[in-house]
Amino acid sequence: EKIYIGVDLGGTTVKVGICNPAGDLMHKFEGPTGVEHGTEAIIDNIVKYVKELVAESAYSWEQVEGIGAGIPGFMDMESGVVKLSPNLGFRDTPVKQMLEDRLGKQVTINNDANVAALGEAWAGAGKGLKNVVCFTLGTGVGGGIIIDGKIYEGSGMAGELGHMAIIPDLEAIQCNCGQRGCLETVSSATGIIRMAVDAVKRGDRTSLSSLEFITAKDVFDAAKQGDDAAIRIVQRASFYLGKAMVLTSVILNPQRYIIGGGVSKAGDFLFQALREHYKTMAPPTFGDMEIVPAVLGNDAGMIGAAGLNLRS
Ligand code: BGC
Ligand code: NA
Ligand code: ZN
Repeated sequence: EKIYIGVDLGGTTVKVGICNPAGDLMHKFEGPTGVEHGTEAIIDNIVKYVKELVAESAYSWEQVEGIGAGIPGFMDMESGVVKLSPNLGFRDTPVKQMLEDRLGKQVTINNDANVAALGEAWAGAGKGLKNVVCFTLGTGVGGGIIIDGKIYEGSGMAGELGHMAIIPDLEAIQCNCGQRGCLETVSSATGIIRMAVDAVKRGDRTSLSSLEFITAKDVFDAAKQGDDAAIRIVQRASFYLGKAMVLTSVILNPQRYIIGGGVSKAGDFLFQALREHYKTMAPPTFGDMEIVPAVLGNDAGMIGAAGLNLRS
């Protein structure tokens, strides 16, 4: 039997999975990205995790038919060169080549959020639909556009939805991509944490000030408890994400929005805010839009990445 490896490279962890030809995830492993040790170390970690996973599984290296990787950043899929990965430090890095040299097998790369969207469209919250758009909320904000069941790549970099410069000038801050006012600066976990740290530094009255180290989950938990500063942050993150969806709708009119990434685990509290903001800002004729959480959770990226070689 042939097997297909899917790699989901994130800001904090690398997830690697083995899929069978039916696309079922048979084995998986998750280890630290090691971003603090530089880009070579990231590549070395991916290689190590892939080799170890196969070695520890019931499969052999010879059975590996394809390796796919979802990589955060702007890239050229054909050449496999990552032009810029705002949160990992890749800059004109030949990721595909580096992985192929070390793994001795052909590697297909695509954007991490594109790949997660593909996984969700096949086997998750978009199953049975042809046109869906996925936003992933994690270290950055990713976007994946699925049209007629396939990733829409444009001339390679379509779907970089986190870098819509959507925040008004006076409030805009610099994004890691070089632009100011990107959606990512407010709706990512990183953005939410930054706003919380700012609130504490300003001396806002908030339960968050008692924490030594604030996570996005802490902010959502505090908001659910009625903490005003936390509520304002959640509202801001969801307002701009809702606005980005409205802008996306008039261009693509998808059948459904799927929200993934760690932040989406905030659940109903986030989704209700998002739906309200969307409804308020969308042209009335666009009607009700389905905005749903990703269902494959942490597995979407691995399954979608494995599928790059499996279903095309
Ligand atoms: C990158 C995207 C990526 C997203 C989520 C953004 O900063 O530009 O390519 O999909 O983060 O990881
Ligand atoms: Na994308
Ligand atoms: Zn940006």
